Amino acid sequence: MDKVILATKNAGKAKEFKEIFGKMGIEVVTLLDFDEEIPEIEETGTTFEENAAIKAETIANQFQLPTIGDDSGLVIDALGGKPGVYSARYAGLEKNDQKNLEKVLKELQGVEEKDRTARFVCVLAFAVPGEDTITKRGTCEGTIGFEPVGTNGFGYDPIFYPSEYEKTLAQLQPDEKNNISHRRDAINKLVEWIKEQN
Ligand code: IMP
Repeated sequence: MDKVILATKNAGKAKEFKEIFGKMGIEVVTLLDFDEEIPEIEETGTTFEENAAIKAETIANQFQLPTIGDDSGLVIDALGGKPGVYSARYAGLEKNDQKNLEKVLKELQGVEEKDRTARFVCVLAFAVPGEDTITKRGTCEGTIGFEPVGTNGFGYDPIFYPSEYEKTLAQLQPDEKNNISHRRDAINKLVEWIKEQN
């Protein structure tokens, strides 16, 4: 394998993949690299695995190339796993990071620190035309704070304290966050799996 598609139109997401896969001699292209109009793929699944696989398989079938699909989100124990697969649109259809985290803080009102455990989850699905799709799950464990702190990152970063850090993800430098992120964990697991196949 010398080329893989990352089923995203988000150039930021692709950077980390390009670096890590590049070291193995695998070129990573995204949906931005194709001239064809590629419709938005609906995330109709109820699990991260299902959504990641839908994205990977749709694109792998269309272009007949190995494809990685991803899905990620925040899982909060005291909320029974919410916002989960609905993380991007938790406060409504329109994607709004500020409203989403405010909704989470409101729902956690009255929940004490020891019960505010949570984790970011990233699932990567790897689809190869004609073969069974595999999935790898990465996590970043932590707790939810009581107010937003920090300006780096995106999404729920300002309210998420990774385990063993006194800072939120939004207070970490991008490299520091990448080193402990759910996305990096999932990428590492997928890379291990790909290496084992050779
Ligand atoms: P996706 O792009 O469908 O995977 O949606 C992921 C959603 O989960 C984002 O819109 C964020 O709300 C949240 N999320 C995923 N990863 C992170 C992260 O690293 N920091 C903060 N929020 C994240």
